[in-house]
Amino acid sequence: MDKHFYVTTPIYYVNDVPHIGHAYTTLACDAMARYKRARGYKVFFLTGTDEHGQKVEKAAHAQGETPLELADRVMKRYQSLWEKLNITHDDFIRTSQERHKKGVHHLFKLIQGKGDIYLGEYEDWYCTPCETFWTEKQLMDGSCPDCGRPTDKLKEESYFFRMSKYQDQLLKHIEDHPDFIQPRSRRNEILSFVKEGLRDLSISRTSFSWGIPVPEDEKHVIYVWFDALSNYITALGYPDLEGHYGAFWPVDAHVIGKDILRFHAVYWPTFLLAAGIPLPKKIFAHGWWTVEGQKMSKSLRNVVEPHMLVDKYGVDAIRYFLLREVPFGLDGDFSHAALIHRINSDLANDLGNLLSRTTAMLNKYFDGELPAPGELAEIDRLLQEKFPAAITLIDRQMTEMAFNKTLQTIWELVSAANKYIDESAPWTLAKDASQRTRLGTVMYNLLEGVRLIALLIAPFMPGSAASILTTLGCDGNNVTLDGNDHWGGLQPGTRIAKAEPLFPRIEHE
Ligand code: MSP
Repeated sequence: MDKHFYVTTPIYYVNDVPHIGHAYTTLACDAMARYKRARGYKVFFLTGTDEHGQKVEKAAHAQGETPLELADRVMKRYQSLWEKLNITHDDFIRTSQERHKKGVHHLFKLIQGKGDIYLGEYEDWYCTPCETFWTEKQLMDGSCPDCGRPTDKLKEESYFFRMSKYQDQLLKHIEDHPDFIQPRSRRNEILSFVKEGLRDLSISRTSFSWGIPVPEDEKHVIYVWFDALSNYITALGYPDLEGHYGAFWPVDAHVIGKDILRFHAVYWPTFLLAAGIPLPKKIFAHGWWTVEGQKMSKSLRNVVEPHMLVDKYGVDAIRYFLLREVPFGLDGDFSHAALIHRINSDLANDLGNLLSRTTAMLNKYFDGELPAPGELAEIDRLLQEKFPAAITLIDRQMTEMAFNKTLQTIWELVSAANKYIDESAPWTLAKDASQRTRLGTVMYNLLEGVRLIALLIAPFMPGSAASILTTLGCDGNNVTLDGNDHWGGLQPGTRIAKAEPLFPRIEHE
């Protein structure tokens, strides 16, 4: 049986242009998708754009465009960013697509047919920036309890979803599946939210039109979150239960930011329970980035534009920094100083030097031809043994989406290899003709270590990994770990050129 892995990003609103917060979720999913592919899984990695709703409609009108014109324009910015960041998604769904509408209609009618959608009247408050309904009691000083912005009083006919009916079932599911919502602190938050009681949810609006019409009642449009969440199955071809849906649902991981956890961990699972569809295996909510200590916002003019960062520092440095700097799940702060520090110390110094020193020595002492290793000394064995242990640990850390820990584990190998150079002192061995075999063993071990390190960094820094692997005479563009991640893969006799510096040091401005 093939192993399957399905991972999703949220679909991004098109009223805003992409910034590092959006890039972060997508990069994390990309690292995960690449890792699983390298481990032999059939992977489906989904991203896309959330194009309906009042917020998008308002933004379009403010700019003198139709919502679809706005969506067409902004979704291209997302697509070009993903290309620039080397993202390997398998599909890009837009909620304005026919395939999506068809699936949403099916899901809506299915739940309605089961009696869990009914017509009523909504009289409460609505926060357009969050696209969220609130009761008077939930407001904080009259404003949205999530974002603090003003809400509008709404009184309109509305379809309701019987969310209250699924409270106990959802609670039991969360309790029975400790890994369903991660990290743990977030799981507790959702548990207490559900325990406070679920109300039926308004799932249609009549006061604007940019959305998917309610089947057979076109003055209503379907609530944007019902519409958006469904993307995770419509992209798989739902309601067709064969094909991708059959192979990949239930999803292995919905990766999202902490601000949209309630929609994913409460609304979405109850819709699925009502429809009789299996629940996601995992919902992982990561933290938020601030910039130089402040919340990112247009009015503060501190929005960090990923295109600019990539042009300035290189794509792999950005990929590395965002996933290394902060534990996935916690909030973090982006600063140029921290980024430059990581590039200079971890990339230029530790990894870059390891590669340039080893390939330079191989060229100096062996004319660039990899010698066969001789008998192993204790120090060699100690180095070698670190690899299988790290690789097992990394597999666990990746499964837990502990990207920063994974990178730490890899960097322990980088440090061990650098220390091995200092301790085995090839420059001294090179002066003594009787130590020629010993010198060959040391060089072999170093380059083999570099090969394994390159394989391990590939999900995070695919371009750099490919370049290192190509230097070593391996296939850098099709990284496989299974069967390839044990010691001894490099063939003696391989010609290895002196590597160009991969990560130039950056001077502080
Ligand atoms: N359209 C909804 C999601 C629907 S999913 C069915 C949405 N879109 S969004 O464009 O506003 O946000 C998308 C993601 O970007 C969210 O996961 C959010 O947490 C993330 N981020 C937005 N700003 C962020 C930071 N400053 N830091 C980290 N992630 C942030 O919500």
